[in-house]
Amino acid sequence: MNLKKRILLLVVALIFIASLCVNSKQPPLPVPTEVEGWARNVSRNVRDYISETAQAHIMPKNFCEEKGLLLVFIHSKFDKFDARRAIRETWGQKRDNVTFYFLLGEDKNSHHEVQLKLRDESQRFNDIVQERFVDSYNNLTLKSITMLKLFHLHCSDSYKYLLKIDDDVYLNIASALKELTNRSITTNVLLGHIYNVTNAIRNPASKWFVPYELYPDEKYPPYLCGAAYIMSADVAVKLYRVALETPIFYIEDVYITGMCAKKANVTLENSGGFNCYYAKKYVCLYKQYFVYHYFEPRDIKKAHELVAGKKCPLTGSWQEWFYSLLY
Ligand SMILES: *[C@@H]1O[C@H](CO)[C@@H](O)[C@H](O)[C@H]1NC(C)=O
Ligand SMILES: *[C@@H]1O[C@H](CO)[C@@H](O)[C@H](O)[C@H]1NC(C)=O
Ligand SMILES: *[C@@H]1O[C@H](CO)[C@@H](O)[C@H](O)[C@H]1NC(C)=O
Ligand SMILES: *[C@@H]1O[C@H](CO)[C@@H](O)[C@H](O)[C@H]1NC(C)=O
Ligand SMILES: *[C@@H]1O[C@H](CO)[C@@H](O)[C@H](O)[C@H]1NC(C)=O
Ligand SMILES: *[C@@H]1O[C@H](CO)[C@@H](O)[C@H](O)[C@H]1NC(C)=O
Repeated sequence: MNLKKRILLLVVALIFIASLCVNSKQPPLPVPTEVEGWARNVSRNVRDYISETAQAHIMPKNFCEEKGLLLVFIHSKFDKFDARRAIRETWGQKRDNVTFYFLLGEDKNSHHEVQLKLRDESQRFNDIVQERFVDSYNNLTLKSITMLKLFHLHCSDSYKYLLKIDDDVYLNIASALKELTNRSITTNVLLGHIYNVTNAIRNPASKWFVPYELYPDEKYPPYLCGAAYIMSADVAVKLYRVALETPIFYIEDVYITGMCAKKANVTLENSGGFNCYYAKKYVCLYKQYFVYHYFEPRDIKKAHELVAGKKCPLTGSWQEWFYSLLY
């Protein structure tokens, strides 16, 4: 055989083997073009989900009857008992001028024991609001609109500010309060970590995948990172009114602090204390922040020991370097 023939044979063999490989593979899975729970035929009209008259499953006694500077709504999930315990024992401890409530939805599979445990927890701490929507990641926008509804109906005369925060965040609450009490203008405030330019993600594999039918533009309006943001009472009421007329978009922070805020003409304010992406859990290295995200309950406790116990070693000391390796 001459060289040309050999090469030809080799190529044919390779193509044959390659075709075997391709045929033996499963046909590729169909690429999802819809977001789970928000198919094209599902209503996105807020009024179909939010009722001002329906009774919540669980409501604290004397809800919002105290007055104060700050109302904190911690967005939790029905089964996150450990996260709530960690927060109550740390940054969510009772203090003057601040009230804490946990906001949850309902268990889609309605496990009876979980609900009993939840009622127990509520009797013990009187800080649980369980509203009437399925508690899922893709329903977080409904959770936030529910928060605005409750604030509008019961709390807007009692508190100057509303803080939305997730249950996997450590908050240095003393610093946050300092920032609030030091402000001269206390209305028209919407404060957090700004994302100025973000594209909607069109890759169906992403957690934040958005089909064109749900959001046709390429870019989102500027918005605040959803882990924690603060608004003044007037802004909460404005955002609620606008949300009632704005089709639900399942990415919570983009919807509330981006789309609704823009429609309500509320200007976003960036605060250096709110960070969003954050990998290292050793808070002493990042004293300038008061919001730390992606924390497990044990990270929250550890952070609190260091921050509230004033146990951070001096900046630049060998102890700081040493502990930063440990945590
Ligand atoms: C929407 O369509 C799916 C099939 O694509 C169907 O299973 C579902 O029941 C429909 N939902 C509503 C609310 O009509
Ligand atoms: C509560 O907040 C108000 C401002 O709204 C402030 O004047 C007052 O000193 C605060 N009280 C306490 C006990 O911190
Ligand atoms: C959101 O909650 C509504 C009301 O309970 C429910 O019908 C819907 O299935 C939930 N959607 C998702 C994505 O969980
Ligand atoms: C309070 O505000 C003033 C000016 O607005 C600023 O210089 C000062 O650093 C602030 N203090 C705190 C504790 O944030
Ligand atoms: C985002 O916009 C705000 C307000 O316009 C501005 O203060 C901030 O510097 C901008 N941030 C970035 C990263 O461009
Ligand atoms: C926002 O401002 C625009 C232009 O000034 C105005 O037409 C619109 O009514 C305002 N929206 C709200 C909710 O105040």
